[in-house]
Amino acid sequence: MFPRLAAVFSILLPFVLGASPIDRRAIVSRYNPTRNASSPITPMQIGNGHFAFGADVTGLQTFLPFAIMSDWGWKNDSLPPGKTWADIYNYRGVEWDFHGRLVQYEFGGDPSVEEWLESNPNRVNLGRVGLLFLDGNGEALNVTESDLESIEQELNLWTGTMTSRFFFDDQHVTVTTVSAQTSSTVGIDIDSSLLQARKLGVYLDFPWNDGSSDFSAPFVGVFNMTSNHTTTLQVGGKLPGGAQAQVSHTLVNSTFITSVGGDQFTISRDTPAAHRYSIYPANASNSFSLSVSYSLPNDTPETVAPYQSVAEESVQTWEQFWSDSGFVDVYTGSSDSRADELQRRIILSRYLMRVNEAGDTSPQESGLVNDGWFGKFHMEMVFWHLGHWALWNNWDLLNRTMGMYHRFLETSIQRAQVQQGFSMGARWSKMTDPSGRSAPGDINELLIWQQPHPLVFAEYQYRATKSQATLENWQNVIRETANWMTAFAWLNESTGRYDLGPPMYVVAEDTSPNVTRNPAFELAYWKYGLGLAETWMQRLGLVAPSAWNDVKENLAPLPIEDGLYAVYEGIESNFWTDPTYINDHPALVGLHGWLPPIDGVNLTIAKLTADKVYTTWNVSNCWGWDFPMLAMSAARNGETEQAIEWLLNPLYQFDDVGMPVGGVRVPTPYFPGSGSLLYAIAMMAEGWDGSTTQAPGFPGTGWNVRTEAMSKAL
Ligand SMILES: *[C@@H]1O[C@H](CO)[C@@H](O)[C@H](O)[C@H]1NC(C)=O
Ligand SMILES: *[C@@H]1O[C@H](CO)[C@@H](O)[C@H](O)[C@H]1NC(C)=O
Ligand SMILES: *[C@@H]1O[C@H](CO)[C@@H](O)[C@H](O)[C@H]1NC(C)=O
Ligand SMILES: *[C@@H]1O[C@H](CO)[C@@H](O)[C@H](O)[C@H]1NC(C)=O
Ligand SMILES: *[C@@H]1O[C@H](CO)[C@@H](O)[C@H](O)[C@H]1NC(C)=O
Ligand SMILES: *[C@@H]1O[C@H](CO)[C@@H](O)[C@H](O)[C@H]1NC(C)=O
Ligand SMILES: *[C@@H]1O[C@H](CO)[C@@H](O)[C@H](O)[C@H]1NC(C)=O
Ligand SMILES: *[C@@H]1O[C@H](CO)[C@@H](O)[C@H](O)[C@H]1NC(C)=O
Ligand SMILES: *[C@@H]1O[C@H](CO)[C@@H](O)[C@H](O)[C@H]1NC(C)=O
Ligand SMILES: *[C@@H]1O[C@H](CO)[C@@H](O)[C@H](O)[C@H]1NC(C)=O
Ligand SMILES: *[C@@H]1O[C@H](CO)[C@@H](O)[C@H](O)[C@H]1NC(C)=O
Ligand SMILES: *[C@@H]1O[C@H](CO)[C@@H](O)[C@H](O)[C@H]1NC(C)=O
Repeated sequence: MFPRLAAVFSILLPFVLGASPIDRRAIVSRYNPTRNASSPITPMQIGNGHFAFGADVTGLQTFLPFAIMSDWGWKNDSLPPGKTWADIYNYRGVEWDFHGRLVQYEFGGDPSVEEWLESNPNRVNLGRVGLLFLDGNGEALNVTESDLESIEQELNLWTGTMTSRFFFDDQHVTVTTVSAQTSSTVGIDIDSSLLQARKLGVYLDFPWNDGSSDFSAPFVGVFNMTSNHTTTLQVGGKLPGGAQAQVSHTLVNSTFITSVGGDQFTISRDTPAAHRYSIYPANASNSFSLSVSYSLPNDTPETVAPYQSVAEESVQTWEQFWSDSGFVDVYTGSSDSRADELQRRIILSRYLMRVNEAGDTSPQESGLVNDGWFGKFHMEMVFWHLGHWALWNNWDLLNRTMGMYHRFLETSIQRAQVQQGFSMGARWSKMTDPSGRSAPGDINELLIWQQPHPLVFAEYQYRATKSQATLENWQNVIRETANWMTAFAWLNESTGRYDLGPPMYVVAEDTSPNVTRNPAFELAYWKYGLGLAETWMQRLGLVAPSAWNDVKENLAPLPIEDGLYAVYEGIESNFWTDPTYINDHPALVGLHGWLPPIDGVNLTIAKLTADKVYTTWNVSNCWGWDFPMLAMSAARNGETEQAIEWLLNPLYQFDDVGMPVGGVRVPTPYFPGSGSLLYAIAMMAEGWDGSTTQAPGFPGTGWNVRTEAMSKAL
C-alpha cells in the first residue's frame, strides 16, 4: 500500500506546490529503441521478469536464435558415465583448517561429480519462433535477412510492444510482438498481404542445450543435435487451455510444454528427425495472430490467452510500471550534453531490469538473455541486481525475489551447522540453483560478502512499510544471518579481537584464501550488518543476543598501511602496484559510498584510500558495477563531476537497446551493470541518509534533476 500512496502523493505534491509533474511518457518514449538490422550480439526483448523473449529484427527469432528463457525452466544433464545418484548425493569435497578444526567445503573430491554438480541443473532455452516464407505452394523458401527491404523495428517502452515492419517480395509485412505479464506467453500479430497469398507462416523450433560450457552467449543451445532430445506434437480439440496444438519437449528427464493458440492454423513437423514445426494460417486473410505459451507439464495455462488480451495486459502493466514507481528526470532542462545519454541509460535499464530481473530467484548476470554460469545465479550479486528496486519503490517486483531468503534458510542452516560445523546460524551460498544448492567451487564456498545482504534488503523494506508484519516476516532470516556472522568471527586470544578468515575470499576474489584475514570491506560490512540485526530485534521488542554486540564492538580494526586502508591485514605493502591485486573490483572504494558511514571506518582515511584507487587501480580492467560503485564513492565525497564521469566511463557501455556491455571481462549483457547504475542514480538524485542538498550527487551547474516517488539510500 505505502509505496503506491507515496507515488500518488509525490505525483500530486508538485501540483500543490505549483510545479507540474514530470512528463514521464514523453521521456520514456524518447528512448524507444529502433533498429533496421539485427544485432548479432543482443536481442530486442519483451518479457515480465519471470519470462523473456529475445527477438531479431523481424520481432521473432526468424534469422537468429535468440533465447526464450524463464526463472522456472531448468533441467539436469545425464549423470557422468559410471556415476549414480548416490555418488551425487554423497559428494563431500575437501576438508580445510578453520582455526584448528577441519571444515567440509564443497569443492575438490571426485572431479566428474564435482563438475556435474557445478553445471546442473542448467537453465533451458525454451524454444524459437520464426517467420516462415513460402512459395505459395506450401514450399519453404530459403530467405535471409538481406532479402528483406526497408526494415524498421521499434520497441515501445511505455507499452512493452515490439513492432517490426519490412518488405519481402515487394509486399509489406508488420509483426507485433508482446509478452503476457501473468504467464510465460508471447503474443504475435502478423499483418501482410503475403498471408492472403499463403506465402507466410510461422515456425517453432526447439534446441538441445546442456551444461557443457559455462557461458552460452549470444545463443543458448544448438538445433542440430536432434537425436539428443525429443519432441512430440498433439493437435485437436481436447488440449488443455483451448490450445490448438501442443509440443512436448523432453531433454533427458525434463519436459517443457509449448501450447499454441490463436487464429485457426494447421501445423506439421518438418521432418521426423528434426524438432521444427511449421504453422500455416487456415484463413487466407491479411492478418494472423498467435499466442505461444511455455510451461511445465503440470502447469499448463488454463487458457492460452489470445493475442488481444496478451497485448492489453502488456499495455496496462507497463503503463502502471512507468506511472506509479519512482522516476528520475535528469534530461529536461539540463544543459550538460551528457544528460541525454545518462537519461537513455536510465530508461532502458529500468525497462530491461523489469524484463530480466524480477523472478522467483535472483537473476543470473545475463538475466534471461542468455546463459552464464549454466544459468545459475550469484547470491553476492543480489545487491547489485536488485537493490535499486527498493529505491525506485518497486516493492511488488523486489518482493518476488526476496522469498528466496526464506526458502533457502533451511539449507543454509544445514550448510553452516551440519556441513561446516559452525555453532549457529545460516551461511548463504554464492553460486546457487533454484533449490538453494551451492555449486561446488573454492570461491563459491569461501566468499562471504553475500552474507549481510538480506539485512540491507530487510532494512529497506522496513523503511518503506514501517510495519510489524515486515519485522516478523524477516525475523528468522535476520537472526540466522547474524548468528552465522557471529559464529564465523573468530576470537583471536592474543589481540582480544574477532578476526574474519582465513580461509575466505574477498569481494575481488583475487587473494589467497588461506592467508586472507581481516579484509577492510568485509569487516566494515560485518559491523554494519550486525548493527542492523541488533536494531531489528530491538524494534521487535526483543533482546538481541549479546554475542552479536560483542563481535560487532570487538571486530579487528580495519587494516591500515601507510595511512590507507588495505585490502586485508598483512597483504604485501606494495599491493597498490601489484597486478595481482589491482585488476579486479576495487571494493576499497565501497567503504564509504556503497556503504554509509560506519563506526570504525575513518572517513578521512576512506577518502584518501579512494583517491589512491583512482590513481593506481587498473581501471581499464574494471567492468559493470565497478563504475557505479566508484560513482557512489565520488558522490558521497562531494566529487560530483567525477561521479558523472564514472557513470559515463568509455569502458562502461550500454548498446542501442540498452544492454549493458560486458566489456573486457564478461559476455554481454552483464546486468549488474544496469542494476548498479539505477542504484547509483537513485542515490545521486534523491540523496542518502544525512544528505541535505537537492540531487547531492549531481554537479550544481548544467544539471536539472527532478525525482518522483524515489527513496533515499542508506
Ligand atoms: C540503419 O541504422 C543505422 C544506425 O542507426 C543508420 O546509420 C543507417 O542509416 C540506417 N539505415 C537505413 C537504411 O535506414
Ligand atoms: C536436478 O538434480 C538435483 C539433484 O542434484 C535435484 O535436486 C533437482 O530437482 C533436479 N532438477 C531438475 C530440474 O531435474
Ligand atoms: C532419468 O530417469 C532415469 C529413469 O528414471 C533415471 O535412471 C536417471 O537417473 C534420470 N536422470 C536424470 C539426470 O535425472
Ligand atoms: C589451504 O589450506 C588447506 C589446509 O587447511 C590446504 O589443504 C590447501 O591446499 C590450502 N589452499 C591453498 C590455496 O593454499
Ligand atoms: C540459404 O541461403 C544462404 C544464403 O544464400 C546459403 O548460404 C544457405 O546455404 C542456404 N541454405 C539452404 C538450406 O539452402
Ligand atoms: C551445429 O550448430 C553449431 C552452431 O549452432 C555449429 O557450430 C556446429 O558446427 C553445428 N554442427 C554440425 C554437425 O552441423
Ligand atoms: C548428443 O548427441 C551426439 C550425437 O549427435 C552425441 O555424440 C552426444 O554424446 C550426445 N550428448 C548427450 C549429452 O546425449
Ligand atoms: C478461419 O478458419 C476456420 C477454419 O477453417 C473457421 O472456422 C473460421 O471461422 C475462420 N475465421 C475467420 C475469421 O475467417
Ligand atoms: C511479499 O509480499 C507479501 C504480501 O504483501 C507478503 O505476505 C510476503 O511476506 C512478502 N514477502 C517478502 C519476502 O517480503
Ligand atoms: C591474532 O592476531 C594477530 C594480530 O593481528 C596476528 O598476527 C595473529 O596471526 C593472529 N593469531 C592467529 C592465531 O591467527
Ligand atoms: C581519521 O584519520 C585521520 C588521518 O589518519 C586522523 O587525523 C583522524 O584523527 C582520524 N579520525 C578519527 C575520528 O579517528
Ligand atoms: C590492465 O588491464 C588491461 C585490460 O584488461 C590489461 O591488458 C593489462 O595487462 C592490465 N595491466 C596491468 C598492469 O595489470
